[in-house]
Amino acid sequence: MSYEQAAAAAEFIREKCSAAPKTAIVLGSGLGRFADSVSNAVRIPYEEIPGFARSTVEGHAGQLVLGKIDGHDVVVQQGRFHYYEGYDMQQVMLPVRAFGLMGVRNLVLTNAAGSLNSDMTPGSLMIISDHLNCIGVNPLRGPNDGRFGARFPDMTEVYDREFQQIAHEEAEAIARERYAQGRDATLTDLVHRGVYCALSGPTYETPSEVRMYRQLGADAVGMSTVPEAIAARHMGMRTLGISCITNLAAGMTEGEIDHSEVMDTGARVAEVFGELLRRFVGRIS
Ligand code: HPA
Repeated sequence: MSYEQAAAAAEFIREKCSAAPKTAIVLGSGLGRFADSVSNAVRIPYEEIPGFARSTVEGHAGQLVLGKIDGHDVVVQQGRFHYYEGYDMQQVMLPVRAFGLMGVRNLVLTNAAGSLNSDMTPGSLMIISDHLNCIGVNPLRGPNDGRFGARFPDMTEVYDREFQQIAHEEAEAIARERYAQGRDATLTDLVHRGVYCALSGPTYETPSEVRMYRQLGADAVGMSTVPEAIAARHMGMRTLGISCITNLAAGMTEGEIDHSEVMDTGARVAEVFGELLRRFVGRIS
């Protein structure tokens, strides 16, 4: 994908709405409902946007939603492109690059992930502190267009430290409020911080792989986010990553892992997750 293609997508999106959002939010599996809370919404199906691929996965609607969250302009990607769907990395990175060229400076990447840590239980959230790219390719492989960024981008702080802190504070505040209201039984389990390991998928991991990734320093495993985070870092955008822990990884419990479990847990945390996104957008806007 050339710079011109990303610019064409950015131009198309910009023409569809009058606002110029500074914040983009990418919604992961089972988390798409958040887009329904955008007010003054302009919805653009991916098939209308030049260069955009289609979402093929259940739980990914396949449209951009531009509008407001509590009065703040946002662009929300309801459904993302995954490497396992057969898209090349250029297609996976295109939305983030288009957002960057539209003037978006802040990116919130969300995903569903399996936990490698038995203290981090399904229904909790993990603020991503760093990642392991175990997809097997680097999305920036190939000719570098300097208009996106440097040939050898620094990856010391892919996930903005201040954003992590803000998200953590807000998640803890939500947990305290819900506990005080008697809506959650405990205070301890809502929010964690940890390392997200991206794998190509589409298979879930074997129990031996789960042990290996844990030994490598991962706290959660998933099949997305890292290519987009790298594209954003390349362009100098500030990124927050949030994993919705939907299951314990393979071999950590008796049962098997199933996409419907991932979707069901996403639906269960939708309220807390949406509240966290709202407060985070409010804090950074
Ligand atoms: N592994 C990989 N990706 C996932 C998982 C998992 O256990 N759960 C949700 N996405």
